[in-house]
Amino acid sequence: MQLVGKKVIVVGGSSGIGLATAELAHSEGADVIIAARNEQRLEAVASKLKLSAVTADVTSDESIANLFKRCGPVDHVVVTAAQLRSGPVKTVAMDDVRATMEGKFWGAWRVAREAQINAGGSLTLVTGYLSVRPRPNSAIIGAANGALESLARSLALELAPVRVNAVSPGIIDTPIRAAMPEQARREMLEKTAASLPVGRVGFGEDVARQILAFMTIGFMTGSIVYLDGGALVT
Ligand SMILES: NC(=O)c1ccc[n+]([C@@H]2O[C@H](COP(=O)([O-])OP(=O)(O)OC[C@H]3O[C@@H](n4cnc5c(N)ncnc54)[C@H](OP(=O)(O)O)[C@@H]3O)[C@@H](O)[C@H]2O)c1
Repeated sequence: MQLVGKKVIVVGGSSGIGLATAELAHSEGADVIIAARNEQRLEAVASKLKLSAVTADVTSDESIANLFKRCGPVDHVVVTAAQLRSGPVKTVAMDDVRATMEGKFWGAWRVAREAQINAGGSLTLVTGYLSVRPRPNSAIIGAANGALESLARSLALELAPVRVNAVSPGIIDTPIRAAMPEQARREMLEKTAASLPVGRVGFGEDVARQILAFMTIGFMTGSIVYLDGGALVT
């Protein structure tokens, strides 16, 4: 039990990587608060896992200020919340690319600005390997991830002795692709798994375990960890 007596907030904790992180932190003895927009899903997860929940939207300055006012000082903060819209640079709607930055980049910025993290505690940002392994039609996501990785390194200096790190996942099987047709989603995951040295895609728990390492290894700050099943070396 590595987090007994620690208070952990997972912004984006009702699904996927955030949910796996909340579960793992809870199993390590932490007092865990999860935050996200959809109240029904948030409350369902919180009551099943016996966690606390606060509805919040990372795209709103006021909502994130209220979240941290309600929670008070905390030990570890994790931001997984994102709403990703992308497309070809020549044709994607400006509203869509602005929404991507608003949620993923400015959302993390708002959390960093408002969270009161105890000395020696940590802030973890979740980015994504498109920052260094770009794909056509995803430039805005790669750019948001790259900006977040720079932000983590800057904040490691500015917020010290709070530690700030980022984990940059490859393809992780979470509900983030729920809107894709099921067969196309499964085929994409199978093709990705076959292309990777580890022979599988990631699970939320893979990333959660790295985030737990950021929380508990007091020597880690300013680190960017690429956790991608070997995608960057293939
Ligand atoms: N899964 C992958 O393959 C993968 C790969 C690389 C990077 N990532 C990154 O990992 C992070 C987590 O992804 P995931 O796969 O765990 O996604 P997910 O399963 O869709 O979970 C996203 C979580 O964020 C919350 N959220 C979304 N927009 C929000 C907002 N504006 N304010 C507050 N909460 C918000 C969602 O709840 P509500 O919708 O109720 O708000 C949900 O709890 C994202 O930043 C994603 O870009 C994922």
